[in-house]
Amino acid sequence: MAEMMELIKSRRSLRAPYDRGRPVEPEKLAQILEAARWSPTAHNMQNFEIVVVDDPGVLDAIARIERPVSETFIRENYAQLSFSEEELLQRKTGVLGSMFPPSWRRPDFRLDELDAEEVAAMRRPLPASPLLLVVVYDPSRRAPASEGDFLGIVSLGCVMENMWLATESLGIAMHIVSSLSSGGEVKEILGIPKRLTIAFSCRLGYPESPPPTYLRVRREVADFTHHNRYRD
Ligand SMILES: Cc1cc2nc3c(=O)[nH]c(=O)nc-3n(C[C@H](O)[C@H](O)[C@H](O)COP(=O)(O)O)c2cc1C
Repeated sequence: MAEMMELIKSRRSLRAPYDRGRPVEPEKLAQILEAARWSPTAHNMQNFEIVVVDDPGVLDAIARIERPVSETFIRENYAQLSFSEEELLQRKTGVLGSMFPPSWRRPDFRLDELDAEEVAAMRRPLPASPLLLVVVYDPSRRAPASEGDFLGIVSLGCVMENMWLATESLGIAMHIVSSLSSGGEVKEILGIPKRLTIAFSCRLGYPESPPPTYLRVRREVADFTHHNRYRD
């Protein structure tokens, strides 16, 4: 149990560039896919497919895709930012503002008012990695009687966590890149049929240099636990 808790707590997002010259070993990739295979899914629908991308040309084509950020994202992101470690420790949710370009940290952000430098900062290229796993949601394998296939979507989170814990136990870094899910370009490059949706993509690999550390916070157990009756 102690080991499992250690694994759960040490799993983290590693957003730095990964060494393109150091591939993820095939046997480790096989174990990550095996972890995905045994994920719990609602009604055992196994409503996912995984595209393994390790071809440098395909990785480059995906990295070149522009990933526009919406004003809605910036506005809602701003509400979750802390501007110091002390503030983040106090809030216990959200992320540090220093993760984002300066223009994203302004309450009055307006896309149409950015100067050229700020626009360039928003087009940050996808950090390097030798491997990208694109997890695809198949809505036709729907959980029975689940409105909006809510349970099917929850199931994809189980797939993500199984994969993430497997990478952590294998000493491989992982970074979820949600922005590759929107727009059709990744689907087009990978030949993913229109009827399927990209659930999430993750970069995998070994960091180019020692990974940066950053403050990670969580609410206390007592903050989200309700005994016998929900209390506001
Ligand atoms: C469904 C989901 C989507 C996420 N999308 C992104 C993303 O697009 N970019 C990113 O850097 N992190 C993404 N993350 C990572 C979270 O920001 C991260 O898990 C959270 O801040 C806690 O940090 P930790 O993973 O280091 O514990 C995502 C996580 C989940 C579960």
